[in-house]
Amino acid sequence: MNFELSQDHKVLRDSVRDFVNNEIKPLAMEIDEKHAIPDTLVQQMGEMGLLGSYLPEEYGGAGMDMLSYAIVVEEVSKACASSGVLISAHTSLCSGPILTFGTEEQKQKWLPDLNSGEKIGCFLLTEPDAGSDAGGTATTYRREGDEFVINGSKIFITNGGFLGTGVVLASFDRSLKHKGISAFIVDLNSPGVSILKNENKMGIRGSYTTAFALDDLRVPAENLLGKEGKGFNVAMDTLNGGRIGIAAQALGIAEGAFERALAYSKERKQFGQAICDFQTIQFKLADMKTRIETSKLLTYKAACLKDAGQNYTMESAMCKMHASETATYVTKEALQIHGGYGYIADYEVERMYRDAKITEIYEGTNEIQRVVISKLLLS
Ligand code: CAA
Repeated sequence: MNFELSQDHKVLRDSVRDFVNNEIKPLAMEIDEKHAIPDTLVQQMGEMGLLGSYLPEEYGGAGMDMLSYAIVVEEVSKACASSGVLISAHTSLCSGPILTFGTEEQKQKWLPDLNSGEKIGCFLLTEPDAGSDAGGTATTYRREGDEFVINGSKIFITNGGFLGTGVVLASFDRSLKHKGISAFIVDLNSPGVSILKNENKMGIRGSYTTAFALDDLRVPAENLLGKEGKGFNVAMDTLNGGRIGIAAQALGIAEGAFERALAYSKERKQFGQAICDFQTIQFKLADMKTRIETSKLLTYKAACLKDAGQNYTMESAMCKMHASETATYVTKEALQIHGGYGYIADYEVERMYRDAKITEIYEGTNEIQRVVISKLLLS
């Protein structure tokens, strides 16, 4: 067992860290305030290969592995969680299933634009009445000649506002529950797709979270992703991988907040000494660091299992659950260490505190992660 990153992974981490410090960190507050990530930054991320880290080079990806992808999302999220989830939802919820379930033609058609950032990807699963109960998908489709016609509505779609490429889940027969669901690759800039709204959120305010109406959306038959009636399996497999991305995002948020809290505790003087000289602060720092380290071990382990082609369903649920609860805990403690200054936007930990909460909710609430883990334990 070797707990050291390989030389290649260290080089990747350091180059992404430089990019983040130079290009993303200075914009993080503005991204939160303006509720948008600048197009130029998205373009730079594409040029850096951050939007296709584990996608093969033959489709325009960076040809690295899942561990590299986790490192990318972690480093970006240390400075800006909105940018972190842009990369995560794009890569593992859209490019990922196309790579895993797509035909050769589909991969050649859709992946190069996703990997370059020409198109931003998203995953249209969640609906007003089908959140945790993903099998309750009420969006329907029917076949008409060489097309599928999709009708329904989707909510909480990360990256939806870009109107790029989407993987859409819809049912041909709701009485079949999850066995009636199929997956489709959709150009969201098509007639029949309309944005109902981009949500105004507590955190990750720079990330689009979009509600869509799909009205007689016509999709060519060749855009069916995987087999008809197997869309739920596409969704579950996709979410298993996606949860590693959310764990990495949560890990990055926690690390970003910890770095600030540690530095601040050394600078801030009260009662004639740095506050880090008080045991109450030292114990907080010790607890924060320990939870960060366990989150990192779980997240990297899940990524390495996926890279090794082994089953990682339980590990991805565990790392997502643990890292997200760590992010919420660490950002709360980091804010407390900052005292009143922590409540002021300039110190950034208040943004991280707001950003952290969603990681306990999206890509499967932590209650659902506990369902996944306990079902596997007892099966
Ligand atoms: N991995 C692989 N397969 C799985 C699986 C997993 N984690 N969980 C279930 N399955 C398979 C089962 O083996 C079964 O397969 P067969 O039909 O071949 O036997 C099938 O799926 C049905 O399983 P269940 O009977 O257990 O299904 P269920 O209806 O009880 O639901 C669930 C299971 C785990 C609760 C599932 O509905 C789930 O994961 N819900 C959460 C959905 C979710 O994460 N939503 C987030 C949306 S994405 C997002 O957040 C947006 C964003 O943009 C960031």
